[in-house]
Amino acid sequence: MLCFAFFLASSSSTSQPPRVPSNVAWTSPTINEASHGNALRGLLIAKRCEHCHGSEGFSANSDIPNLAAIDPLSFWKQMQDFASRKRNSAIMSPVAAPLSHADVADLAAYYSLMPASADPFDKRVFPSPAIPPAQSARAAQLIVLGDAQRGIPPCQSCHGPVGFKAGAPPLSSQNEDYLFNQLRDFSTGARSNDINMPMRTVASLLTEDERHALAAYYGSGLGQLPAGTVLPK
Ligand code: HEC
Ligand code: HEC
Repeated sequence: MLCFAFFLASSSSTSQPPRVPSNVAWTSPTINEASHGNALRGLLIAKRCEHCHGSEGFSANSDIPNLAAIDPLSFWKQMQDFASRKRNSAIMSPVAAPLSHADVADLAAYYSLMPASADPFDKRVFPSPAIPPAQSARAAQLIVLGDAQRGIPPCQSCHGPVGFKAGAPPLSSQNEDYLFNQLRDFSTGARSNDINMPMRTVASLLTEDERHALAAYYGSGLGQLPAGTVLPK
């Protein structure tokens, strides 16, 4: 009788299936498929992306992410999430939807081979201008140590260079405005495609000033310096 009541309750029109953050799971076949694309074929498909992401994967607009030297697994997951609208974007979801798994693996291979070093001939906005010492000191503290009292783990334990978590992109050559927008969207839940919610949790524990400081730190290229570099006073 109880079971029957449960069945009735759970099949009623008001019950919602639990929301799944992403259709991607890091199984060995997926990791294999995502990391063995053909970079030359990727280069040809990437012509469609150049207009916004730059000819060498460095965007001329700080709101648009750089793709040069991107981690192929992270690239793969974001493209699948755009296509399934687990990460909904008016711009990227229609771009990603028609691409096959092989196309995405090829693009991942191409962009991950593009160097993150500066080229004076392109129109990249990265790195953005130097930031005030107090702001960079606060960001460096969160990146290297986190804030144990508030339950914030160090960013570098998942995003490198100290540790890497599958699907966590390196942030050290990413644009400031894009980074800030992502941290804001994770903190409000507008972006919710992170498996096990590490980023919704971390971003919502940060203050607005800290989100700005972290975006400005990575966006100005400071994340490329070795961890443990003496902080400015
Ligand atoms: C009209 C401009 C435009 C075009 C064309 C475009 N993109 Fe994007 N792309 C964006 C914007 C804007 C975002 C950020 C979306 C957001 O904030 O959610 C983005 C985000 C991404 C991301 C997420 C990066 C990350 O670090 O999470 C990937 C991957 C990506 N684009 C790949 C591509 C590829 C591959 C193509 C070509 C097949 C392409 N884009 C074409 C504008 C564009
Ligand atoms: C426990 C691991 C973990 C920690 C700690 C962590 N992150 Fe993340 N972060 C991730 C993962 C995993 C993703 C990719 C989420 C997805 O699949 O969309 C991510 C994504 C991001 C993105 C989006 C990047 C992009 O290109 O779209 C930003 C920005 C970011 N993290 C910033 C930070 C900052 C700043 C900190 C420190 C305050 C931090 N993260 C701490 C795991 C972590």
